[in-house]
Amino acid sequence: MDDTDFADDDSPVAAVEQPSDGELEAGLRPRSLDEFIGQPRVREQLALVLRGAKQRGGTPDHVLLSGPPGLGKTSMAMIIAGELGTALRVTSGPALERAGDLAAMLSNLVDGDVLFIDEIHRIARPAEEMLYLAMEDFRVDVVVGKGPGATSIPLDIAPFTLVGATTRSGSLTGPLRDRFGFTGHMDFYDPDELLRILLRSARILGVVIDPDAAAEIAGRSRGTPRIANRLLRRVRDYAEVRADGHVTLAIARAALEVYDVDGLGLDRLDRAVLGALVRGFNGGPVGVSTLAVAVGEEAATVEEVCEPFLVRAGLVARTPRGRVATTAAWEHLGLVPPAGAFNGSLEVRAHESQQTLDLFD
Ligand SMILES: Nc1ncnc2c1ncn2[C@@H]1O[C@H](COP(=O)(O)OP(=O)(O)OP(=O)(O)O)[C@@H](O)[C@H]1O
Ligand SMILES: [Mg+2]
Repeated sequence: MDDTDFADDDSPVAAVEQPSDGELEAGLRPRSLDEFIGQPRVREQLALVLRGAKQRGGTPDHVLLSGPPGLGKTSMAMIIAGELGTALRVTSGPALERAGDLAAMLSNLVDGDVLFIDEIHRIARPAEEMLYLAMEDFRVDVVVGKGPGATSIPLDIAPFTLVGATTRSGSLTGPLRDRFGFTGHMDFYDPDELLRILLRSARILGVVIDPDAAAEIAGRSRGTPRIANRLLRRVRDYAEVRADGHVTLAIARAALEVYDVDGLGLDRLDRAVLGALVRGFNGGPVGVSTLAVAVGEEAATVEEVCEPFLVRAGLVARTPRGRVATTAAWEHLGLVPPAGAFNGSLEVRAHESQQTLDLFD
């Protein structure tokens, strides 16, 4: 798989960062562990890691943050440096193409700095190997010259904490993963947490919003703060242009309808796929490529952009014979599920036995 996963389009509910997100996202980032809403386990564990290091007067273990886009990995990296009161140096896996790029970065570190490597699963091999030694011994071996005359000069670097972020912890090599002392897995947020994030963002942006309107946006945000904040901005635009700026439930609903985001957070393409599966193929099972042809999209787009959320939302199930619509999918489209429609429960799972073993993968 490549990096087209998790939606790369300009849909309002794409989880990946869009150019228009940048500046505003920065202002909405939580600044401290206390301000960070949700992820209670990661927060508690990190607080202990950071406090322990502070008490000992050393640098904390290297930290790996993993999870889907838009859940707060970059924000958390910034918070770690903030809590430690040290500087954050930022780079990314794709930027570290040659070991020399990394050596330059490492040798400029000051005692206690936090080095943040985003998309660390995309780091090039030579840089990764240099990182092993740096993480373990705070040392790099710089190779000078080429061929038989090449020599390797060991260079001490300042003790630092590496924070790596990845949307694909599975693509990390074993040796790299093993060198992180702490891994925080970020999970999707529940609607209540998203509601609190939205109310906080609204306060920062100076948007007057009714709690039920914020709850409505939360319910359509696919468990992802980045999407919640983006939808809030779109709803604000609508409220300011078509009304007096005050976001009520009716305004939020009308705005989200204009932006084609439905009650579950599905966008136009998601609904087209679901509609084709239910109406065109009577709920399936049908193969992804057939489904893709039916909606005029590439199979990869349907499989990597739409399907993960449709499955997570319990609307589509993967079976060895193809994709099937669940009863919830029929109901979501306002249709009566036929008898025998897949209801996604464990009972059905056991009943259909082998057919649905990879249902929840
Ligand atoms: N817990 C949170 N509380 C408040 N806002 C949050 C929280 N988590 C994320 N956000 C908001 O969502 C935006 C996206 O978060 P962030 O950039 O940290 O995600 P990410 O996991 O690094 O995403 P990517 O994988 O795309 O790099 C932030 O700018 C911030 O406004
Ligand atoms: Mg990030």
